[in-house]
Amino acid sequence: MDATERDAAGLDAADPLAPARARFALPDGIIYLDGNSLGALPVPVTERLADAVTRQWGQDLVRGWNDDGWWAAPERIGDRIGALIGAAPGQTVAGDSTSVQLFNALTAAVRLQAGRPPGTPGRGGVIVTDAGQFPTDGYVADSVGRLLGREVVRTPDPYAALDRGDVAVLAWSTVDFRTGELWDTARLTAAAHDAGAVVVWDLCHAVGALPLQMDTARVDVAVGCSYKYLSGGPGAPAFIYIAERHQAGLDQPLTGWNGHSRPFDMEPGYQAASGIARARIGTPPMLSMLALDAALDVFDGVDLAAVRAKSLRLGEFFIAGADDVLAGLGFEVVTPRAAERRGSHVSLRHPDALPLMAALIEAGVIGDVRPPDLLRFGFNALYTSFGDLARALEILREVTASGRYREPRFQVRPVVT
Ligand SMILES: Cc1ncc(COP(=O)(O)O)c(C=O)c1O
Repeated sequence: MDATERDAAGLDAADPLAPARARFALPDGIIYLDGNSLGALPVPVTERLADAVTRQWGQDLVRGWNDDGWWAAPERIGDRIGALIGAAPGQTVAGDSTSVQLFNALTAAVRLQAGRPPGTPGRGGVIVTDAGQFPTDGYVADSVGRLLGREVVRTPDPYAALDRGDVAVLAWSTVDFRTGELWDTARLTAAAHDAGAVVVWDLCHAVGALPLQMDTARVDVAVGCSYKYLSGGPGAPAFIYIAERHQAGLDQPLTGWNGHSRPFDMEPGYQAASGIARARIGTPPMLSMLALDAALDVFDGVDLAAVRAKSLRLGEFFIAGADDVLAGLGFEVVTPRAAERRGSHVSLRHPDALPLMAALIEAGVIGDVRPPDLLRFGFNALYTSFGDLARALEILREVTASGRYREPRFQVRPVVT
């Protein structure tokens, strides 16, 4: 056992969240550091999904919409997610993908501003969004801009952009998917409001990894996915949070029948439901919804402040280990070192990121890569141990120092997402 592994053993022994690992079905022999892309399988999901298929669908058939609570599931699960993002009940609903929710959110936010009295700063203004964000956010913003005739400004500095004085909507990600940089949701939301802008947050890389305060930060709208730190499963439903004060006035473009005030009256004209139900769109993917519901059980009794505290310690440990164990091997830590600017993954830059990750995965350490040269390592405080990180660093050192990653079979993209 080297010094890093000895430190890890001590930290794991003192970790109050260590027992939470048993809530996940992690495969033997794998060190899983990609829960920031697809969370590991929570134990309750297997049995509950089997029940959803065999009993609920198989036996109850269409009655399941009432008898098994399928119809109410998006709001019920939305409230469970709401509890993890600092949202009082009735403001969060689960469904669709983040991309779809973003389109709905951005379009509705621009329309909200367009309805303000003449002379209001954001009324006819631009959409400002993060220059380095996840592609879907930029693609959707561009499309909304074209649709509504608004300029889209992509910038690395939202505060400077707000100084323009004509920002209708600021759309930003809490944690940068590449670098893991964390933005101060409350501070940026307040700055946006001071400038007359409405703010739409993308919480994908933050939800379940750290405490969030949608209500107290007076966030307007937020969206996020549930397949990362919430471990809802591949393609799990996304969610949207709409602050109660905006719900009645929000005109969403995707007016599916599930968001109608009387969906089963099958009326020809659309009349939005009151409350967060208006953010529903079409028939939800119920099996995925029920898998997510079961997955959220792993957060029962969990204090997100403790999750955050451990996640920060994991990040510190990994960064210090990278400085030490990987010294001289061409790696650069690109994630901010300051705790208040760091989410729950750490990215290392290396010119051979792709073959290195492929070799690492073959050796049983699963992370991922983001082009052109970043290796990402995600830490889920509920199941990542300090021992995992010590071992992963040692394997990465070995794979790199030996030059093994240069073998031709590693010159391929190792993972899809
Ligand atoms: C910040 C961010 N937004 C959006 C998405 C994905 O959107 P969707 O759920 O529509 O695939 C991701 C996926 O990794 C992401 O990291």
